[in-house]
Amino acid sequence: MKRVYLTRRLPEEAGQRLAQAVELEIWPGEVPPPREELVRGLEQADGLLCLLTDQVDASLMDAAPRLKVISLCAVGYNNVDVPAATQRGILVTNTPGVLTETTADLAFALILAVARRLVEGDRFTRSGAWQAWDPGLLLGQDVHGACLGLVGLGRIGQAVARRAQGFAMEVIYASTSRKPAVEEALGVRPATLTELLARADFVSLHVPLTAATRGLIGREELARMKPTAFLINTSRGEVVDEEALYAALAARALHGAGLDVFHREPVDPGHPLLTLDNVVALPHLGSATGATRTRMAQLAVDNLLLALSGRQPPHPVNPEGWGGNPVARSGERP
Ligand code: DGY
Repeated sequence: MKRVYLTRRLPEEAGQRLAQAVELEIWPGEVPPPREELVRGLEQADGLLCLLTDQVDASLMDAAPRLKVISLCAVGYNNVDVPAATQRGILVTNTPGVLTETTADLAFALILAVARRLVEGDRFTRSGAWQAWDPGLLLGQDVHGACLGLVGLGRIGQAVARRAQGFAMEVIYASTSRKPAVEEALGVRPATLTELLARADFVSLHVPLTAATRGLIGREELARMKPTAFLINTSRGEVVDEEALYAALAARALHGAGLDVFHREPVDPGHPLLTLDNVVALPHLGSATGATRTRMAQLAVDNLLLALSGRQPPHPVNPEGWGGNPVARSGERP
C-alpha cells in the first residue's frame, strides 16, 4: 500500500476514500504542521496531500526520497517549488475549476461591500449610533453601470465578468494574452494595465502569484487609479505592495479596498491596513463554501490516487514531472 501524508483533515467523504486506498497519516492540528513534522512525515511517504499554507521547497523534497506526487487542495500553487519537483520527478497537481464560481462570488461580494459600505453599516447599526433615517448617512458608490477592470482573465476573472454583466457594468481587462472569444462572449474589452488602472472604478485582481506578478500593484500603479476607485484582491497578497496600499488608502488617494488575501496569513491584527474604515478584510475565504471545499478535497484525492496508481491525474501542474528524471531520484516510478 502507498503511504500518504495529509497536512489537515479533509471533509468526511474525501478523507474516508483516501484512508481506504492508502496507508494514511494525518496531521491532527488546526494550524499547519511545523517544518520538522513535515520532514518526519514525508520520510517514508509516496504522496503528500497539502494546503496552500504548507511550504514545500526543494530541501523538503530532498528529505522525502519516495515522494512521487504532491497534491494541492488549492488552485494556486505558489507555495510549492514546482521546478524543483519537476527536476526530482515529482508530479504536482492542483484543483482548478471547482472553486471558480465560489471565488467569483466572493470577489463580487467584496465589490458590493466596499462600494456600499456594508461592514461599516453593520458596525454602525450594532453600535446603537443610528438615530434616524438620514439622507447623508453612509453614502456609498453605485456598482451598477460602473467600470470594472479585471487584471487577469482566467477562469475566475471571466466568472467575475459574467456577474458584472448583470450589473450593467463596463468591463475591461488586462492580461498577458488577448482572449478574442471571451471578449466576444462576455462583451469585455482589452486594455493595457496602465489604461485599466486609470479608467476602472473597481480594479479586481485575478492573476496567479509568479515572479512576474509579485508586487504588480505598487506605488506607481496605485497612483494611476482614480481617487474614487476601489482595489479588490482575491488572488494572493504578494501581488500588491501592502505598504503602498496603506499609504494610498490612508491619504484617500484611493477610495477603498476589499482584501481577502495578505502577504502574511493570518494577517497580524495590528496590521496598519486593518486600522482603516475604508478596508474590508477577510481571512482568505475565496473558496470557503461547504460544497466547494468538498469538491476541492475530492479532486485533490482523485489527483493523488490516480498519480499514485500510475495513471495521469486530471490536473497536473507540471505534466513534465510525470515520468521525472530517473537519475535524480532513487525511487521507482509509480
Ligand atoms: C486557492 O485555491 O488557491 C485559493 O486561494 C483558496 O481556495
